[in-house]
Amino acid sequence: MTFTADAAVGVFDSGIGGLSVLRHIEARLPHQPLLYFADTGFAPYGEKPQSEIVARSLAIADFLLARGAKALVVACNTATVAAVGVLRARYPSLPVVGVEPGLKPAATLSKKRIVGVMATERTLAGEKFLTLLDKVADSSKVRFLLQGCTGLASQIEAGQLDSSATRELVQRYLDPLLAQGADTIVLGCTHYPFVLPLIREVIAAAKVGPVTIVDTGDAIARQLARLLIARGLLAPETQAGSVTCFTSGSTTALEAAFSSLLGQTVVATAAEPAI
Ligand code: DGL
Repeated sequence: MTFTADAAVGVFDSGIGGLSVLRHIEARLPHQPLLYFADTGFAPYGEKPQSEIVARSLAIADFLLARGAKALVVACNTATVAAVGVLRARYPSLPVVGVEPGLKPAATLSKKRIVGVMATERTLAGEKFLTLLDKVADSSKVRFLLQGCTGLASQIEAGQLDSSATRELVQRYLDPLLAQGADTIVLGCTHYPFVLPLIREVIAAAKVGPVTIVDTGDAIARQLARLLIARGLLAPETQAGSVTCFTSGSTTALEAAFSSLLGQTVVATAAEPAI
């Protein structure tokens, strides 16, 4: 496989969560054309068996490569835990960037040395995540409290960013972490940055003092930039950035999400990668 600098970068998620990563990629790499795949027809990944997430991730990667991608960003913690190893093995020469909950930065930031991690159950049960957790917990002596947030990504996917049902879920998952003394909360799912205002409200209502929120969106964009530079694949400055969107779900819902979450007008195309 050979790749050229003027090619696109493929980005995918189970749905619109990856937009919280895409916005940082656009900011860091303004000349980079992007392909975005929202696998909304199969969301939520967090409630699917690992084998299904692996099959979807491989099919989407093939789809994006067939459209000329020179690198891949797995903008989904759940898919990273389940499939990034398989993706790297299948495409050894393709730069692949995955996302992981920011345990390391959180361990450095936490003054009380208690960190809460919000993610899908599937992410928290994944071997890749548990290996990272062991390593960071061991070296930092920080206590990590893990909170699976079943249903939260689906609420966000449905555009329910501040409904009372979403608020209740955020409260149900966050309050126990705050009650146990967490002063740092890791957003371990790319959907969650879109309910940051609700998260901040729940923290304020709990009256527990300052709490730091860790989101790795910008770190992912920096890692992508580093990889592209190292491979000589950085987009030329004469090129204009763009986003071409595909979804296995509703094209109008994806277009609406780009507009409401990022203020961008895009045209989404319906697509069904062959498994
Ligand atoms: N956005 C995905 C993540 O980062 C998960 C959402 C889902 O369950 O599909 O884990």
